[in-house]
Amino acid sequence: MKNSLHHIISASQFKKSDVFRYIANARRFRTESAESSVSTRFQGKTVVNMFYEPSTRTNCSFQAAAHKLGCNVISLTEAASSSKKGESLEDTIRTLGCYAEAIVLRHPERGAAHRAAKASRIPIINAGDGNGEHPTQALLDVYTIYEELAAFGLNIDSPLTEITVCFVGDLKNSRTVHSLVYLLGLLANVRFIFLSPKSLEIPQMLADIQIANGHQVLINTMSLDEALPLCDVLYMTRIQKERFATEFEYETVMANRRDYSIDGERMERAKQQMIVMHPLPRLDEIAEEVDKDPRAAYFRQVENGLYMRMAILEQLLEIHASIYVDNPMHANSSSSLSGEQHNT
Ligand code: NCD
Repeated sequence: MKNSLHHIISASQFKKSDVFRYIANARRFRTESAESSVSTRFQGKTVVNMFYEPSTRTNCSFQAAAHKLGCNVISLTEAASSSKKGESLEDTIRTLGCYAEAIVLRHPERGAAHRAAKASRIPIINAGDGNGEHPTQALLDVYTIYEELAAFGLNIDSPLTEITVCFVGDLKNSRTVHSLVYLLGLLANVRFIFLSPKSLEIPQMLADIQIANGHQVLINTMSLDEALPLCDVLYMTRIQKERFATEFEYETVMANRRDYSIDGERMERAKQQMIVMHPLPRLDEIAEEVDKDPRAAYFRQVENGLYMRMAILEQLLEIHASIYVDNPMHANSSSSLSGEQHNT
């Protein structure tokens, strides 16, 4: 049997049917969670949360999701790990594979999740690799867009529906945007509007993929004030200070931050039937007064993250059990991840 570990590394690995299955399962968990708090379904299973960069929502929602499924959670930060003694990422991953059934990995280096998957005998979930990707955030984001726009009678899955999605802020470093652009391009008929400081534009390769797939792509061709009346989804991001080489470069970009920020007055330009999203944390790109606007969907987005991560863990743990428990021959095999082999 070929290696069939089911890592989640990039949004580009998903098919449309995968995404809709995740959405259906997340919806099921939302309904079930309203009825009962903890399941015993995966009792005795362990998930490692290995976070080598700060995180509130991704880390806590994976922990909460694992607990709700009945799993134990081991949490590892870089400061407390042998990485401080010089251990390689690969050796740490090999070690953790002896204790757990899945590893949720956040790492400051782009490509780290892919490297980890190559060394791992248990599934790796990319919870953010530097300025690379954040595929589980993209899944919860499309779940949010799907639900919220359905409430306006917009079915994103229909070829007759075209939605306008405007991404604002640090589009070069925003891994949530990189992954979400892939998924939206796969699911819906989209007009993409990208608004950012010149030095923080969306990677050209991502834009080119969307153009090749027949989507309309507009990069810095208008101001935020001009884009607002067109948006069905406004996806705000923070300027990621930690990814700048110098303080001077960061301050130069921040001097124009008002061009990439919204407040109550600016929201008056937007349609009534639209939503504002943000992966959070926000700085001052969304004024707090916007929170009470019903179009502010970012805290509903946070809640959706819990159910989506339950759906993700459920699927990986089920597949893992069928490969490793039902077939102990595979218990010591290492992954040889390449190309399509990491498809879920
Ligand atoms: C983002 C991240 O870490 O990529 N947050 C998240 O995971 N929800 C966005 C950010 O850090 O700005």
